[in-house]
Amino acid sequence: MKKILLVAAATLAMGSVQANPFSALGCSGCHGTGGKSAIPTYPSLAKSARPNLDVVKELKDFQSGARKDPTMNAMAAMAAGQEQAIADYLAGQ
Ligand code: HEC
Repeated sequence: MKKILLVAAATLAMGSVQANPFSALGCSGCHGTGGKSAIPTYPSLAKSARPNLDVVKELKDFQSGARKDPTMNAMAAMAAGQEQAIADYLAGQ
């Protein structure tokens, strides 16, 4: 029984990452709910605020080190494999 509950909890957790990796990974903590930031230090990422931002490209550049920012180099590494899902989510915001 305990095992079944654990599997169910893990499945639920995975489901929430897939539904909204942006908040599940903690991105919204800095960039705001839906990527709409109220703090100038943290750029807005929502499509409505940043129509020309290429989220996947910027994340890849942070991952490769082509773009340097200590916070985002670490956060982009955590987002590995989820770049497109994050971009898709932000495209709807
Ligand atoms: C601790 C705060 C913090 C967290 C958490 C964070 N970011 Fe950032 N992010 C920043 C800052 C600061 C910048 C601006 C970096 C710079 O000036 O180069 C930035 C920049 C970006 C950019 C580039 C925006 C632009 O205008 O070019 C993207 C894309 C981005 N973040 C995505 C994410 C994603 C996706 C996550 C979650 C995996 C995340 N961030 C988590 C602080 C954060």
